[in-house]
Amino acid sequence: MSIRIAPSILAADFAALGSSIAAAERGGADLIHVDVMDGHFVPNLTVGPPVVRSLARVTSVPIDVHLMIENPERFIPSFAESGAALISVHVEVVRHLNHTISLIKELGLKAGVALNPSTPIGSLEEVAADVDYVLVMTVNPGFGGQTYIGRSTSKVRAMRALLDRVGNPAPIEVDGGIDEQTIADVVVAGADWIVAGSSVFHRKDPEAAVRTLRAAAEAAATRRPHVIPGRREA
Ligand code: DX5
Ligand code: ZN
Repeated sequence: MSIRIAPSILAADFAALGSSIAAAERGGADLIHVDVMDGHFVPNLTVGPPVVRSLARVTSVPIDVHLMIENPERFIPSFAESGAALISVHVEVVRHLNHTISLIKELGLKAGVALNPSTPIGSLEEVAADVDYVLVMTVNPGFGGQTYIGRSTSKVRAMRALLDRVGNPAPIEVDGGIDEQTIADVVVAGADWIVAGSSVFHRKDPEAAVRTLRAAAEAAATRRPHVIPGRREA
């Protein structure tokens, strides 16, 4: 599974999003992660489809929209229309998850399901075969700059085992508190896509920061234990 680095614009200067994204792009960003918050599901507010539309105009990097909102079905079509390439929804707020995943796919986008730190991986059991990616939150959603929750490492390992068991090679995305230090363990555990806010945009040189994270992730990926697809983890 190839490593993808997804800088999160939440940590960027919102008055200079275009140049922030351009720097991340020069550093080799694979995805641009956009955190959408509604003040209900999480205690914070951020951006909506108009911002995604503007970003899509200035970047060729796929836009990865992380919906931390209630009733995400209501807004999925407008994010798709605005130029999102991937959309993840939180399992904690979606009533008919199978339907929501189908909706995102029917619009031609990649469908992801996100889990809060306290949400058990078993909540994904019945849709594990259908998802294009799984987003394992490694902090409680709502804010950038938080500390990586250590237990997430074993959760990523268990999530990989679940996906392997159902024969789905879908990548695991991790989000929250990932930096040069925390990246190695989570990649060895099975994370493929790395969201990074503070560790990219709060660095002096975001372009170099993306390269540093990629190098660390790729080195860690070579230390993953060999996984036999379809085999249950011991
Ligand atoms: C938190 C967001 C994250 C956030 C990560 O709710 O989902 O994407 O931007 O920020 P850092 O990398 O600073 O923890
Ligand atoms: Zn996010």
